[in-house]
Amino acid sequence: MKNNILNVFSLLLLFGLLQSACSGGVKKDYKAVDIQDLAKNQTEVHGTEIKEGEIEFKNPLNADMVKGGQNIFDLKCNACHRLTSEKLVGPGWAGVTKRRTPTWIMNMITNVDMMLEKDPEAQKLLELCLVRMPNQNVSKEQARDIIEFMRKNDGEQ
Ligand code: HEC
Repeated sequence: MKNNILNVFSLLLLFGLLQSACSGGVKKDYKAVDIQDLAKNQTEVHGTEIKEGEIEFKNPLNADMVKGGQNIFDLKCNACHRLTSEKLVGPGWAGVTKRRTPTWIMNMITNVDMMLEKDPEAQKLLELCLVRMPNQNVSKEQARDIIEFMRKNDGEQ
């Protein structure tokens, strides 16, 4: 009798342990895919809002800037964006320099929170993608390099 009670007790204990192990596991998995979490521990760089006419495009493209942009793309954007029109987490970049103004793209890269809050076009993208693009802590200069890389991707010379 005493043994039985002990057995039941240890079964309950085991069950409890398994349960908490499971829910712990689930939480951990959930965290692993929480995209907002990825950017949490990075130091924040908030750009100042970029005004229309601040960015100027020139031809031929600046090869150093294209290379700089490519490096940042590989490091910080590649996980969510393709260079084709294929949507991954975010929209594919093919044609982006044709459908958006330079100012809009710059603000999307350096001020994504402001854009998602205020800009109707950015909000439409959010509705489509269902994921908020996290602030990538990209400086204004780096963002300009990325656009040069996007222009190259769009066939500019
Ligand atoms: C965690 C995923 C993720 C990462 C990483 C990411 N983006 Fe995004 N991006 C998105 C999503 C999602 C959208 C659509 C807007 C939204 O839902 O917030 C978007 C939209 C954009 C747009 C607008 C595209 C269009 O078709 O108009 C640009 C430009 C952009 N991102 C640039 C970048 C750059 C540059 C980087 C790297 C420095 C980057 N993104 C990194 C997810 C990401």
